Amino acid sequence: MLYEDIENILISEEEIREKAHELGQTISEDYAGKDLVLVSVLRGAILFVADLIRAISIPLTVDFMAISSYGPSTDTSGIVKVVKDLEENIMGKHVLIVEDIIDTGLTLNYLIRNLRSREPASLDVCVLLDKSARRIVYNLPIKYKGFDVPDAFVVGYGLDYRQKYRNLPFVGILKKAVYEEE
Ligand code: IMP
Ligand code: MG
Repeated sequence: MLYEDIENILISEEEIREKAHELGQTISEDYAGKDLVLVSVLRGAILFVADLIRAISIPLTVDFMAISSYGPSTDTSGIVKVVKDLEENIMGKHVLIVEDIIDTGLTLNYLIRNLRSREPASLDVCVLLDKSARRIVYNLPIKYKGFDVPDAFVVGYGLDYRQKYRNLPFVGILKKAVYEEE
C-alpha cells in the first residue's frame, strides 16, 4: 500500500480543493478580458492544473511543457532541459505558469527565462506548494501560492518520488526510510 510509505498527511484533499477554488476565483477576476494561457509543467502539476482550470470561469487555453531537472534521487541536479515544448505561440498572451512545487527555484528560473524570450504580454506563476527553506533563486514572479511546506520531501497530488505516489489524493511527507534505504 502506498499509504504505508507516508509519514503524515500535510495537506488534505479537502484543503487542496478549497484552495484550488479560491485561487481559481482570484485568477478569474485578475485576468478578466485578457488572453490567458496556462502553461503547466509536466508531470507533477497535472492534478493541480486539472482542479484549477475547473475553478476558473473566464476563457483560457492550456498548454504543456516538460522539463527535467531532477535525476532519480531527491536532490536537485541543477540540470534543466526542455523535454517537451509548448504547442502554441505565447507572444502577446498573458501567461500563467502552473507549477506543483518550488524548491530551490532553479527549474522555475530556467522556465521563466525561456518563456520570457518569447515575449508574452505578462508572465507570472501560480504554484501549489512553496518549499522556501531551500530557495536559491529569489526574484521569481510568484503571483499565486497555495501552501507553504516545510523542508521535507513531499509526495502525492501529482508529486512523485521515482515516479511513484502521484495518485495519492493528498500531499504527504514521504517516510525517510523509503529513500534512505536506497
Ligand atoms: P527546484 O528546481 O529545486 O525548485 O525543483 C522543482 C522541481 O523539483 C519540482 O517541480 C518537482 O518536480 C521537484 N521537487 C522538489 N521538491 C520536491 C518534493 O518535495 N517532492 C517531489 N518533487 C519535488
Ligand atoms: Mg515539477
